[in-house]
Amino acid sequence: MNKTRIGRFITVEGTEGVGKSTNIDFLCRLLKEQGIEIVLTREPGGTPLAEELRELLLTPREERVSQDTELLLMFAARAQHIENVIRPALERGAWVVSDRFTDATFAYQGGGRGVDIQSIKLLEKLVQHDLHPDLTLLLDLDVEVGLKRASARSAPDRFEQEKLEFFGKVRSAYLQRAENEPQRFAVIDAAVPLENVQQQISVALSRYLSN
Ligand SMILES: Nc1ncnc2c1ncn2[C@@H]1O[C@H](COP(=O)(O)OP(=O)(O)OP(=O)(O)O)[C@@H](O)[C@H]1O
Ligand SMILES: [Mg+2]
Repeated sequence: MNKTRIGRFITVEGTEGVGKSTNIDFLCRLLKEQGIEIVLTREPGGTPLAEELRELLLTPREERVSQDTELLLMFAARAQHIENVIRPALERGAWVVSDRFTDATFAYQGGGRGVDIQSIKLLEKLVQHDLHPDLTLLLDLDVEVGLKRASARSAPDRFEQEKLEFFGKVRSAYLQRAENEPQRFAVIDAAVPLENVQQQISVALSRYLSN
């Protein structure tokens, strides 16, 4: 994979309503100004089959979804996304920007649901081999504020119906990962006005591009 990989892989992460979708457009504009070809995508999803799996994962349902089922569906969608979208794009030299990736699995299924981290690492290895994001922007925000922003926008999905305590664990897990990999992560304070958030993103990107 590494031998043929030319493009870079950037991911945007964070809990509900932190501003991932809002800021990813801004990020892509900055990259395009540099003359870089961008493939913008998201997880779970990014291919027709993976988007169907997304629907299965996000639709609220009566039946209790087992943790293992949720975890495996996430990685099934990811396998499809990597093989059909991410890897081909990187190989032809495009840069891939994804709204969420495996850090979200460590945060939601690991931190939030309490799935054993070793199981997630095993699937990460199986599905990704040596593919990892080069840069991850973590938008960090009080979870209650984020949920309010998200609920003003649309009806809650299966994850958004979780309790505050769940999202507190998700946020902590994200921050812990950022602390463990400071070279890859840029933590962005998403509590401030959009203009200020975008200023932080510009700085993080410039720093990354100059390295
Ligand atoms: N810095 C900000 N201050 C106030 N409101 C914001 C800010 N950034 C985004 N918003 C608003 O918050 C709402 C949620 O933003 P957005 O949809 O980008 O979040 P998201 O992280 O993609 O959410 P989800 O996790 O549900 O995909 C939108 O209505 C957006 O306009
Ligand atoms: Mg979004």
